Amino acid sequence: MIPLSRVTVTDEMKRAILAVVDSGRFILGPETKAFELEMAAYLGVKHAVAVSQGTSAIQLALMAIGVRPGDEVLVPAMTAFPTIEGVMHAGAIPVFVDQDRYGCMDPDDAAARITSRTVGVVPVHLYGGVADLDRLLPLAERHGLWVMEDCCQAIGAMWGDRKVGSIGRAGALSFYPSKNLTVFGDGGMVTTNDDALAATVRKLRDHGRADKYTHELVGFNLRFNDIQAAVGRRQLALIESFTERRRTIARRYAAGLSGVAGLTLPAERPNTRMVFHLYPLRVSDRATRDALAAHLKAAGIETGIHYPPPNHRQPAILERMLPPELPSSEAAGATLLSLPMFPGLGDTDVDEVIAAVRGFFAQC
Ligand SMILES: Cc1ncc(COP(=O)(O)O)c(C=O)c1O
Repeated sequence: MIPLSRVTVTDEMKRAILAVVDSGRFILGPETKAFELEMAAYLGVKHAVAVSQGTSAIQLALMAIGVRPGDEVLVPAMTAFPTIEGVMHAGAIPVFVDQDRYGCMDPDDAAARITSRTVGVVPVHLYGGVADLDRLLPLAERHGLWVMEDCCQAIGAMWGDRKVGSIGRAGALSFYPSKNLTVFGDGGMVTTNDDALAATVRKLRDHGRADKYTHELVGFNLRFNDIQAAVGRRQLALIESFTERRRTIARRYAAGLSGVAGLTLPAERPNTRMVFHLYPLRVSDRATRDALAAHLKAAGIETGIHYPPPNHRQPAILERMLPPELPSSEAAGATLLSLPMFPGLGDTDVDEVIAAVRGFFAQC
């Protein structure tokens, strides 16, 4: 089976884990501090605060920004459900926005959904591609809204010469094992240039502590641990080579699949660097997508759908609100199919996937 995704594991990562075991320092210890500093340097941001996972990074970033119950926050409908959970756990109401042709938040639709209760925007750099910051940042500025970038799928993606996560008021990262930079469990980070925001996230993640015996806030236990940090640091040392490999695979897919009638390939937005967390194809309709997935499965190739259905149509949301009409996101949910994409994927595997996809369309 060619998997959709696979974690890169090196001997150095295994040795680093054993060193932490021997050190006896497990929670928010020296490895976590070093990982935070190295990540901040990599992204070109003042602070990176490690937390338990990407969902809590979104929640704590929004709480530290000062979201209050009933505030409305613009979110794309087409994203992983945890984006929405992070917003809702912070107390805000998600206002779902349709997607543009790159699969990210559509700035025109976002503008149309701003009300007097809107306080912020959460663009998601989906599939490793950069959201339309050229238009979303001025929109937010005009309406006095903050921007919190969901970079969980996009570590290393660039808007011009700046890394995502360093551009908005804050950013959120995830190190879940399918992500571009993984640990061997769960993990995440809040990134920001705002000293006060970083200090609040540090307190919130650790029971509201200002020091060992002083609890200034009623916080949470959403801390990070040193075993995962030790892995994350070794992954961070490799992230640029991972990104290069993902981009090479994407070019190989594009060369092998271009010209297939009825197939739309993922595209990189101009003046950005996409890091290809996923490689989602678009086909003409749901039946073709499902038949292609079945064909690839029979050929030993795993695929995924990111995401069916978009979040405004999820049961947990439908029981809380009437869903808006978001035609682009709904069409995408019915016609997307992600092909295998991870740095360890070999050229022969990529060629096998290309041949299987072409074989399917040749018989259509
Ligand atoms: C876009 C996006 N946001 C948020 C998350 C949440 O990350 P985590 O699984 O680490 O909580 C994920 C990953 O599932 C994601 O892909």
